[in-house]
Amino acid sequence: MTRAAGPQHPAALPHWEETPADLSAAIREIKPALRARIEASGRSVQEVFAAVEQRIEARVAEIEADRAGGEEVWPVLDYDAIADGAVTPAQRAKLSKRGCLVVRAHFPREQALAWDADIVDYVERNEFFENYTGPGDDFFGSVGSKPEIYPVYWSQAQMRARQSGRMATVQSFLNSFWKHTADDGTRWFDPDRDALYPDRIRRRPPGTDSAGLGTHCDPGTLDLWMTREYQQAFRHLFDGTAERYDPWDAAHRTTGPQYPGSTMCSAFRTFQGWTALSDMDADQGVLHTVPIPEVMAYLLLRPLLPDVPEDSLCGVRTGQVFPVTRRWHPMLYRALTPIPDVRAGDSVWWHCDMVHGVAPVENQKGWGNVMYIPAAPWCPRNERYAALVREAFVTGSSPSDFPEEHYERAWTGRFTLDQLNDTGRRGLGLD
Ligand SMILES: [Fe+2]
Repeated sequence: MTRAAGPQHPAALPHWEETPADLSAAIREIKPALRARIEASGRSVQEVFAAVEQRIEARVAEIEADRAGGEEVWPVLDYDAIADGAVTPAQRAKLSKRGCLVVRAHFPREQALAWDADIVDYVERNEFFENYTGPGDDFFGSVGSKPEIYPVYWSQAQMRARQSGRMATVQSFLNSFWKHTADDGTRWFDPDRDALYPDRIRRRPPGTDSAGLGTHCDPGTLDLWMTREYQQAFRHLFDGTAERYDPWDAAHRTTGPQYPGSTMCSAFRTFQGWTALSDMDADQGVLHTVPIPEVMAYLLLRPLLPDVPEDSLCGVRTGQVFPVTRRWHPMLYRALTPIPDVRAGDSVWWHCDMVHGVAPVENQKGWGNVMYIPAAPWCPRNERYAALVREAFVTGSSPSDFPEEHYERAWTGRFTLDQLNDTGRRGLGLD
């Protein structure tokens, strides 16, 4: 790769607003275009990537040092500190740097355990296990044949948690870490209003052997390089100014299309998250993250290096999660860190770009129960999806981001329209 003689006018990138018909051809077209655009800055792709690698290496080294010094790598905050506005600048700085958080006592432990029991009652009363026909998708389906992931979306427990004031408080707090309004006044999302994003439940019983889930990230696949809006969101990575890339800038993330696939998330999430419905120790097959929010700089530029085949973006394809592998991203594994021990009622959050996976476990001690509830602030993308969510809610259907299983359509005890409070109505766009 030759170094450009000096700054040149960068050419526009080709883009595909729908999944390209020929993925390999599109990859072979986008890679030289991205390299040319980067090199128009006067630096080679290798130089820009080396700068990114140094930035990530510094983060990895800090994480290793914290771990060696016995300090908790994951930021941990009490719910009361968030609700009282008592989070210190140092705590905020750590959250910003690590991109993840455990909220202690987000809900009272007794409340969370009661929700867990309520879910059991709901699925048993409606004979879920008798009627369960197997996993509806390949990804979580790989966990095992017994239902650990329940395709249940509309229980009293889930909806009460989603529309609770305590959830809204934490979501607003987390949304506030993002730059949601541009210098020109463009408002990319509303940090104080969340879209209600229905997701599933995991209940993993004691004694479980699980192979876990491989490391991956969820914000998109080929669309991260190929749609116009994502090319804008990652503009600093693609124009040779990677030092200016800010993983907390929401510009152009909340408006564009996404390539469909069985693992896609239609919503823009500032943070992925779940709320614990049982106590879980850190060595019992729990969530691990690479707690480095700017990791997308590394993931998106790595495929442009010459050792990657020209029709490959390091194994990323549509219709499957974005894989993070030891082959292409070995440095990141040094930073892979489990959540601390959690108790029922704690919640766990990680920046939407962050690499994560679930560790394997043999003969799990205790239950491993969570309900997935992210922070998905109100924005054009989430407003569009909310229309589909409303329809699924009213009919008890599986939301359109998930396999069409629709177990709850005929169930009794489902959460109903008249049980929505103001937060729930706003979250569904019914205000
Ligand atoms: Fe994931």
